[in-house]
Amino acid sequence: MRVVFRRVHKTFLQKGQRVQALSDVNLTIEEGEFICVIGPSGCGKSTLIGLIAGLEFPDSGEVYVDSRTVEGPSPDRIVVFQEAALFPWLTVLENVEFGLKIAGVPHKHRRERAIEAIKLVHLSKFVNAHPHELSGGMRQRAAIARALVMDPKILLMDEPFAALDAQTRTMLQVELQEIWQKTRKTVLFVTHNVREATFLADRVLEVSARPGTIKREYPIQVPRPRREQDPHLLTLQTRIMGSLKDEIEKVAREQLDTDYRVSHDGTLVPVERNVGGGI
Ligand SMILES: Nc1ncnc2c1ncn2[C@@H]1O[C@H](COP(=O)(O)OP(=O)(O)O)[C@@H](O)[C@H]1O
Ligand SMILES: [Mg+2]
Repeated sequence: MRVVFRRVHKTFLQKGQRVQALSDVNLTIEEGEFICVIGPSGCGKSTLIGLIAGLEFPDSGEVYVDSRTVEGPSPDRIVVFQEAALFPWLTVLENVEFGLKIAGVPHKHRRERAIEAIKLVHLSKFVNAHPHELSGGMRQRAAIARALVMDPKILLMDEPFAALDAQTRTMLQVELQEIWQKTRKTVLFVTHNVREATFLADRVLEVSARPGTIKREYPIQVPRPRREQDPHLLTLQTRIMGSLKDEIEKVAREQLDTDYRVSHDGTLVPVERNVGGGI
């Protein structure tokens, strides 16, 4: 699945003020590519995902998926979030099957597909466990299986490993790399973590501080399977971190510099900069 952003602008209304989340984003993701997006918090990374998922719409510009404008959500574009939103009263198997059930896939067929997806994420021993019996890493595995079972054309991952401890995170990175090699899905993976991004991606996109725009692209040509300690990756990480640091400092400066106005009840309300209109 090919994704194209053409001159995309996106604003949100926050307490009567327009906040520009994305500004003039131009981007092409090729079929089968693994893209990582990094950037300071609030720069519009989740908004990028929302636009592809069809949960948000641009103010101007176009988001195309396979040459068609995105008009809403579709099982072809599935999001995996930081917190696996599993149904607590269902087992792993039932959670993974759920989307297929809604889609009307017959019982036997959906069970087979769910078991296959659960195998891919190495959770076979826990098919009958409930979410509260699983560790955070296992819950994320279940969430990934639940996404994969729908056989989406693009997998949208919004900081899926951010809440995990370092060891679990590394393990899941290695496994996601293996899953991607087996399935060759198009993946858009958002992360704060430069190591994670360089380890996983064909291409790392750096988004600038708000309003977010694609600041730089780093092709990662290291062959897979990759090793975390690969010297080429370490060199790239140093380069990307240098550039990212500038953006993060920009955000920090902006936050320290925030202007305040006093509201009618005497509380201080931060005033957004670079925004038109508002009170
Ligand atoms: N639904 C929304 N309503 C109002 N403001 C939003 C909404 N979603 C995002 N924003 C604002 O848009 C900007 C970008 O948000 P987001 O895409 O979540 O950034 P990131 O994922 O990079 O941290 C932020 O300033 C955020 O507060
Ligand atoms: Mg986000």
